Amino acid sequence: MTQSPDQFDDEFLMQFIAELHSRSGYDFRHYSLTSIRRRISRILQVQKFSDLSELKTWVYSCSDAEHEFIESLSVPTTSMFRDPEVFKIIRTAVLPMLKHLPLLRVWSAGCSTGEEAYALAIMLDEEGLYDRSRIYVTDINEGFIGRARAGIFPMRLMKEYTTNYMESGGCHDFSSYFETGYDRIVFNGRLKSNMVFAHHNLVSDSSFNEFGLILCRNVLIYFGTPLQGRVLNLLDDSLRVDGYLILGEKESLRMSTIGGGYEQLQRPYKVFRKTAPGLSQT
Ligand SMILES: C[S@@+](CC[C@H](N)C(=O)[O-])C[C@H]1O[C@@H](n2cnc3c(N)ncnc32)[C@H](O)[C@@H]1O
Repeated sequence: MTQSPDQFDDEFLMQFIAELHSRSGYDFRHYSLTSIRRRISRILQVQKFSDLSELKTWVYSCSDAEHEFIESLSVPTTSMFRDPEVFKIIRTAVLPMLKHLPLLRVWSAGCSTGEEAYALAIMLDEEGLYDRSRIYVTDINEGFIGRARAGIFPMRLMKEYTTNYMESGGCHDFSSYFETGYDRIVFNGRLKSNMVFAHHNLVSDSSFNEFGLILCRNVLIYFGTPLQGRVLNLLDDSLRVDGYLILGEKESLRMSTIGGGYEQLQRPYKVFRKTAPGLSQT
């Protein structure tokens, strides 16, 4: 019988997570305990381990197991034009305000397998901005970055993605953006010509550029409140004044110190315009 999350010994779990940090440098100590428990429960089921100590023995058995464990703590859930209304706001209210920039830097932070980045590339292309844009596509999980770079996705998802595309205001033939083969599609290479794929850990890495548009959606929900605040400061440090920050549906600036420097475009959507320099930028 596999242990369920409510049977976990939290002290043992937190010590294990702390040791993992010392051994690997990956710091999950300030993620929300609920999300860590849920993830670990899934790993126990997939690996058919009965309890945490069996899992720990496996993780410490070799560096491949440790790496696999770290990667499997990530939640990959994503889709193209996820929450189409948000992409519609980006198309109709955000991109027109960024059109004057000679180079538009966009950051898809916590990009998972890259669907968000391809959706952005298509939208920027249709709005005549792609040729002077750079999309930085980053995640903590190297495996996800590899899949994003490949730009190959299951055919079975294309019906849903086409509907999302149209609901987000797209009016071209969505199938013109990819080639089909067997049960997969491959996005046109041109869509990734201005993408930069990189490993970036929002918990431990710093700001690396100044962006006009940052999407960090459905990532903060896995973090505890203090960590959310720290990551929001990092995003704020990375965003130009008059730039836009997009968060996930269940995320907000409410608990952070940066909220005062932002205006929300249209409630309830988490699309924020930065109206004032952050404290570290004054
Ligand atoms: C649920 S997915 C969200 C994907 C996409 N942003 C979206 O909304 O569809 C969460 C992503 O956050 C990434 N992630 C988790 N912790 C991270 C960290 N410390 N730094 C960067 N990415 C992280 C995970 O690897 C995963 O790809």
